[in-house]
Amino acid sequence: MSKLELGVCYYPEQWDQSLWREDARRMVEMGLDWVRLAEFTWSLIEPERGQFNWGWLDEVIDILGDAGLRVMMSTPTAAPPKWLINEYPEILPVGPDGRVRGFGSRRHYCFSSDVYLAESRRIATEYARRYGENRHVHAWQIDNEYNDHDTVLSYSDAARDGFRRWLEQRYGTIYNLNRTWGTVFWASGYTSFDQIELPNGLVANPNPTHALDFARYSSERVRLFNRAQVYIVRQFSPGRDITHNFMAGSFEFDHHAVATDLDIVGFDSYPLGNLLGSTLSDEDKHRYLRTGAPDYQGFHCDLYRSQGNGRMWVLEQQPGPVDWAEKNPSPADGMVRLWTWAAYAHGAQAVMFFRWRQAKFAQEQFHTALLRSDGSPDQAALELAQVVQERAVLPSATRQRASVAILLDYPSIWAADILPHDDAFPNAQIFREWYAGLRSLGVDLDFVGPEDDLTGYAMIVLPQSMIVSKDLAKRLRDSQAKLLIGARAGSKTADMHTPQNLAPGELADLVGVRVLRVESLPDLARESVRLQDGTQHEFTGWREIIETEHSIAACFSSAYRDGSPAIVQSDRAMYLAMIPRGPLLQTILTEALNWAGIPVTENNRDVRLARRGALVFAFNFGATPQILSDPEDRQYLVGTSEIPPYGVSVWIEP
Ligand code: GAL
Repeated sequence: MSKLELGVCYYPEQWDQSLWREDARRMVEMGLDWVRLAEFTWSLIEPERGQFNWGWLDEVIDILGDAGLRVMMSTPTAAPPKWLINEYPEILPVGPDGRVRGFGSRRHYCFSSDVYLAESRRIATEYARRYGENRHVHAWQIDNEYNDHDTVLSYSDAARDGFRRWLEQRYGTIYNLNRTWGTVFWASGYTSFDQIELPNGLVANPNPTHALDFARYSSERVRLFNRAQVYIVRQFSPGRDITHNFMAGSFEFDHHAVATDLDIVGFDSYPLGNLLGSTLSDEDKHRYLRTGAPDYQGFHCDLYRSQGNGRMWVLEQQPGPVDWAEKNPSPADGMVRLWTWAAYAHGAQAVMFFRWRQAKFAQEQFHTALLRSDGSPDQAALELAQVVQERAVLPSATRQRASVAILLDYPSIWAADILPHDDAFPNAQIFREWYAGLRSLGVDLDFVGPEDDLTGYAMIVLPQSMIVSKDLAKRLRDSQAKLLIGARAGSKTADMHTPQNLAPGELADLVGVRVLRVESLPDLARESVRLQDGTQHEFTGWREIIETEHSIAACFSSAYRDGSPAIVQSDRAMYLAMIPRGPLLQTILTEALNWAGIPVTENNRDVRLARRGALVFAFNFGATPQILSDPEDRQYLVGTSEIPPYGVSVWIEP
């Protein structure tokens, strides 16, 4: 499984039956191995309760399989049929504004609906029983993109009732809940679990522990929903891998937790679709308008590969302009090939393109595909042909464990959203910026979750770990890794309280710091950090006033408490009392890597290097050619030492 496998998302139900056979033949001819099917087919298979219309799907599977393709079947729960919604309108999700979200698109269900959970089990059983042992079905996808269209948090009656039951289990008595939530504050105490409402539509901000518990509860509902179907598919389809397609930049549920129930972690990659809505600067958006951010593919593939213990697939790859972003530019020619190899370099075992043929009707007509709606090959098909040729010359390779890991923990991200103390607090963005900073220095990265094995890393970075448990602190200490720890680490307990010893709480011994006060500054404050070499770097936003007995690697230059420590270093940890960005971040990351003895390459804005086993990939996201400084005897398998714009070079490292 270490050669790149290729596939496509196919919607035969949207095309005349007379095209199916030819489609299958062309897919094979184009070098595809996999075809994903059926994630939006419920009402076609079961047009009325208990009436099943399997014939057409049976036939499609046979045609595809007989042509030589492996089928990834899906459960169809992302789009429940209208008859079911009419029977049980309470399945529909409710938005934060309290309005019921209606039928007519997709994802119109609430994770808290027990009725829907039972119906999902029922239909998953039908699909799994029908196709579980089918000789052409080799893998399964459960549902489709859990948080698509912001559907993880739902404020329905079912959610309220489920949340109350969940709280009762968690706290046992209302006294415990009141004490943990601190409801003595603003006299918001409860006398029974039945009084508790959901934290939306309030006059001011909700109690932070209430909000965090609702995030935890909602995340657990996603896990429960996914797991229920995984169990069914496993039972009826033994030996087949089960996956789900996670989204980019989605932190609304705990992906680590959901991933533990999957065999493969899937990722849907839309580098341009996600660019304009990102927090990149306008300059970078302009620069990468047709390539996507250079670290988009790497960030998500590394994150999901780590969650999948090495097993990660791109289940949907952007093939050209999408139709759903605020503006939908064309990728530069060559980018579909580049994204495909970047996914592989970062550990993907397979890349599937979304979709086979551009839709002729309904919602996604402007969304491109491998083929245009008339069946003629579009640019992505040409680039796929090149990937297929290149695949033939690349030896198999498996991605190895990196020496640097980023700790990413979902509850800490929720916590920072709940108590930002700074309207523009970059939160999840911090992870992307640190990731990009490290990658631009040529460092390969893993991600770890708070429960993961931390041993063996030379360095672990904690960009934003607001909640650090005693156990995690102990395992960080035992890991022997050098630690680079961002501001706010350990500043809240799991209950969203301030630790008794103040921030950084459980990390205090390790970093030797006590945070005395925090402030957040507007951009116009223009404060700076003075490094030991005398250079000054601007920063803004979050700042901490700390005391320490360890050596001070940098100080604040400020009208307020001038000279107070900005970076503190002990033998094991570097602690940052602010959130560095831009050149300051880059300088700190370089220093930290040097300190941990990790080799760095020269920072190049547009070029990224990634290693997969002995293979080294170089990607040029820029509009000008780039020359690699290479030893004379280097043998390129793909490309040369001059990488053209949007090009890829690959060689073997001895
Ligand atoms: C994904 C979704 C697909 C399709 C695609 C279009 O988010 O899973 O079904 O809508 O976007 O880019």
